[in-house]
Amino acid sequence: MKIPQNLPRFSDYTREEALRLLLEKEYGCPPPQPDTLEFHVVRREEDAFAGKAVHATVEAWVTFQGRGFSFPFHLVCPKAGQPVPGVVLLNFTPAVPAPYLPSEELCDLGLAVASFHCGDVSPDNGDFTSKAGGLFQVDRSLPTAPGKLALWAWGASVVREYLAACPEIDQKAVAVAGHSRLGKTALLAGALDKRFQFVFANESGCSGAALYRGKQGETAADIQRVFPYWFSPSFASCTGDPEQLPFDQHFLLSLIAPRKLYVSSAAEDLWSDPAAEFLGCLAASPAFEAAGVPGLVGAGEEPQLGQACHQGNIGYHLRAGKHFLSREDWRQFAAYLFLHREK
Ligand code: GCU
Repeated sequence: MKIPQNLPRFSDYTREEALRLLLEKEYGCPPPQPDTLEFHVVRREEDAFAGKAVHATVEAWVTFQGRGFSFPFHLVCPKAGQPVPGVVLLNFTPAVPAPYLPSEELCDLGLAVASFHCGDVSPDNGDFTSKAGGLFQVDRSLPTAPGKLALWAWGASVVREYLAACPEIDQKAVAVAGHSRLGKTALLAGALDKRFQFVFANESGCSGAALYRGKQGETAADIQRVFPYWFSPSFASCTGDPEQLPFDQHFLLSLIAPRKLYVSSAAEDLWSDPAAEFLGCLAASPAFEAAGVPGLVGAGEEPQLGQACHQGNIGYHLRAGKHFLSREDWRQFAAYLFLHREK
């Protein structure tokens, strides 16, 4: 298991060129700035989770060219008496708590989590006429039209905007997080929005942290065939032979430098391919080093089961078990965040 020899070099591009390449060939161009953005707190529970936290339900109202749209999100913030790190979690359900969102434990870890259901921003199917797709009149006949990952990443930035006005949040420690398709989205949101100082991508696999070249499990052709709407229409012409791609996924990871990136894998998650996710981190490390910070540190050539590499600006762990955003993943990520949080 080695970094493939013919990997395109990120250093051959400026950051802007590399980002443009990924947007034009893979994810599509993100929506423009909306005309207006307002937040309305529709419910506030002062003593949530045994009285440890405040739970606010917020509606984000967006207008663009005379059209309007809104989506709800939740902020559960521990009562800490001082600003706490914030995490924007892209989730598969609007519920709080939820299987991937153990709110009470996350409060105990000292994290405020703002979560939203990706389907409330845009449904997870080929419909681009409702919600954010309708607001921005997404035209999928254009090769670089945004796919769903780009629309959901936009939703994460809207929630980041809300956190920016919250005095209870430490503005120097705000993360974007997601699992699986939403781990891919968290990486894209982190690449696009530098206000996320931390990016946490759990088992993001194909089109996430995993390199396409040499990947086992899901391939670029597989994901494009089953989920074409996650990507720009132009992606269809790129997925035939991964060896021919002008980029690979270490480009996406490199765009997060010099901020903090955390990638996590599960040993039995062969569809994502832990080795390919790990190699993505190794291949992105030179971009972090070029930016003056360490990439993945102390990892060796292969991921070790149970090992957690927390020292560098790329963090990584491989846990036992299957595809799931587990408490163990959250605990590791929180430990990484507190280790690297700016004082
Ligand atoms: C499918 C898809 C993966 C994706 C996963 C998920 O398995 O092939 O790429 O990560 O769904 O989001 O749960």
